[in-house]
Amino acid sequence: MCFWQSAKEKVVAMAGKTEALNLADRLEIGKVQARSLPTDLNLRELGYVPFRLDYLFSEFHVPCALYVPVLVQGEESPTFVKVLERGQMFSEDWRWRLSEEQITVLYAEEADLVAIGSYFRESLEAALEDAWVSVEDQARMLRAHGAFLAESIFGDPYHPDVHESAAWWTGAASRFMAQKTPGASVLYRLFSRRYQVYTHCVQVALLVMAVCRAMGWRSRDIRDAGTAALYHDIGKAWVDSRILNKPGSLTREELEHIHRHPLQAHEHLKRMGWMNANQLEGVLSHHESMDGTGYPHGLKGKHIHPYARVIHVVDCFDAITTDRPYRLRTSPYKALRIMLNEMRLSFDHHILYKYIQFLGS
Ligand SMILES: [Fe+2]
Ligand SMILES: [Fe+2]
Repeated sequence: MCFWQSAKEKVVAMAGKTEALNLADRLEIGKVQARSLPTDLNLRELGYVPFRLDYLFSEFHVPCALYVPVLVQGEESPTFVKVLERGQMFSEDWRWRLSEEQITVLYAEEADLVAIGSYFRESLEAALEDAWVSVEDQARMLRAHGAFLAESIFGDPYHPDVHESAAWWTGAASRFMAQKTPGASVLYRLFSRRYQVYTHCVQVALLVMAVCRAMGWRSRDIRDAGTAALYHDIGKAWVDSRILNKPGSLTREELEHIHRHPLQAHEHLKRMGWMNANQLEGVLSHHESMDGTGYPHGLKGKHIHPYARVIHVVDCFDAITTDRPYRLRTSPYKALRIMLNEMRLSFDHHILYKYIQFLGS
């Protein structure tokens, strides 16, 4: 059944309670508003988590029922209209149909997080072992799983299941880096250039693991640095989003507020007991500069943990090459020029040169 047909039935059922409204109008309004829900509407509070269209892999079974929220005129809460059934085979045809309706984000019930975790693990394991699946497609699936996890981490920083999945993901990603050695062009092509904190975190994590592998690090360190990178900005979950998304320059107080995020991340992760001492250092010190001008502690040179030094390089590169509310992105070439000239005292030179070498791969 066409899902808008299903939407229509839902709205018809609701209309039974308030018959005064014109049904056709309500459906049309519902369709339009489904794509423009108020930004302050927190669907997580209603028990739903975002599940983006690019998290669905063709020729794999849909892990759980997926919905589109439809806000009917006069109602405060949206109705969730089921679009895809649990267990149905997803296809490119479905992707095309949903894209045609400009539906790029679906919603899953929070109770289905475990089923979603199994879906990502099983599909990724199958793809990584299948010689017929290209490295590009494997990287795309890895990136999709990481993005789902990063978004879930920011949605609920306390969720233990999400952390367990994140640990599995970094293990799979470090195996992928070691066995398939994807070049930067394979990874970079998948990346979003529109800054969102969760896409930024997964992009930094993937590049950190790739460059650590290129530097010949042990797989344990690649994995641990990757987990630290995935969580490096989790402290921003406690930063006022109006400051994070402010289009103009920040006041001194606002900057101080933002500069607290490494400490907040460290405090949270330490309390949760999810990370070892190296990972915690990687998160805490990712804004420290080699010349001692960074924050939160103004550490210098070798006093900064190696994980943090790698994250710092990749973090700056990803931040400069994505669109931010206060400026447009810079090309990778120009970003590297800025990092090599104006910002050169901030980075560990060995890591920066290795990173540049990796980007050329
Ligand atoms: Fe940060
Ligand atoms: Fe960052």
